[in-house]
Amino acid sequence: MPSSLRLPGAPFVARRGDALYLEDCRLSDLAHEYGTPLYVYSRSAMRASLAEYADALAGRRHLVCYAMKANSSLAVLQTFAQAGCGFDIVSGGELERVLAIGVEGARIVFSGVGKTRAEMRRALEIGVRCFNVESEAELEVLSEVAQQCGRIAPVSLRVNPDVDAGTHPYISTGLKGNKFGIAHDRALAAYRRATELPSLRVAGIDCHIGSQITELSPYLDALDRLLDLVEAIEQAGIPVHHVDVGGGLGISYKDETPPPAGELVRRVLERMDARGHGERELVMEPGRSLVGNAGVLLTEALYLKPGEQKNFCIVDAAMNDLMRPAMYEAWMDIVACEQRHGLPQSYDVVGPVCESGDWLGRDRLLSVQAGDMLAVLSAGAYGMAMASNYNTRPRAAEVMVEGDRHWLIRERETHADLFRHEHLLPR
Ligand code: LLP
Repeated sequence: MPSSLRLPGAPFVARRGDALYLEDCRLSDLAHEYGTPLYVYSRSAMRASLAEYADALAGRRHLVCYAMKANSSLAVLQTFAQAGCGFDIVSGGELERVLAIGVEGARIVFSGVGKTRAEMRRALEIGVRCFNVESEAELEVLSEVAQQCGRIAPVSLRVNPDVDAGTHPYISTGLKGNKFGIAHDRALAAYRRATELPSLRVAGIDCHIGSQITELSPYLDALDRLLDLVEAIEQAGIPVHHVDVGGGLGISYKDETPPPAGELVRRVLERMDARGHGERELVMEPGRSLVGNAGVLLTEALYLKPGEQKNFCIVDAAMNDLMRPAMYEAWMDIVACEQRHGLPQSYDVVGPVCESGDWLGRDRLLSVQAGDMLAVLSAGAYGMAMASNYNTRPRAAEVMVEGDRHWLIRERETHADLFRHEHLLPR
């Protein structure tokens, strides 16, 4: 086998000679076989990142609930379900997806600030393990709906610990100004209220302070704030079974150095032990850290356009396929699937959508020609899951690889798919 160069952050992506591989699949071959834009995921990478959490949690009461908003494609969910993972859902649609692959309610937690009555009813019917309730008003409605269904709703209150996760403002969720959770100093009263309501049962407590977190300290601060509350709530005579510390662990897109998942888990468990909570069940809701570095987005360079100030490399993937750069100015690495040896030039890599915000990368050094395939790395999380049909662009196809095998897991949308549900007015 030719010498293999691992790319930082994405250990299942490697360059062998001039060619880029995901596991043992040559990415330019997949791009030609399935067409572009194309998402490609490594099943082994997903399994390995889940195993990191599971190994560190072994021997402890725990449940890892994959936050499926990061990537909700059925084959991805299936990969995690087969490995014994639970799921964190935020909508009725996500619930139907996990049910469609045969996951039972006992492995599902239901988060989100705006659950509708219909969503609550369906979740009660199938027996979700826990509702992560985000406001006092939601408690009242949930109790009412549960009563109507003749069920008892297990609840955990999402507490806003007012901890700065040190991440982008759009993906920071645990600060006082955020719409998420119940304020720390109202939490005890909310727990008291939950015990007064007829159809609720307190199951736990949770928080989620943000996403793409690259340090341990915000987690440990949030955990301390949660455990303070657990102690106060239990002193008030209300047992709290589990603590859910949320998701949010970052990945390496460029030069970030987030702690490995195993280290995060060990430090959290250590802190729980030190505070006498070693027997308490620990729930975690990782999304990005399970799938982010397992996926790439392949795109074909359509045109090279020298500009007066900048050179543009116009590719066939756009902001509708991968929203993160446009929405958060996120930096995601872009590399050639087949390396050329010409002198690299600086390009803005942009898509065909009619918006100046439609870019995938700015000022990137690339040696590229029209017709070449490029790969956007670390695109497994919040890539396809956030894709839209803007500019009436069909969403990309998705492929899963394992070793040298590959499967189409989602067909490319057709143009007919895009207006299938529309109606003309009567003449
Ligand atoms: N639990 C809850 C309640 C959440 O709101 C989230 C993510 C997660 C778990 C999973 O967080 P993760 O482990 O993936 O960081 N679209 C943005 C990220 C939004 C995250 C929203 N909440 C992005 O592309 O960066």
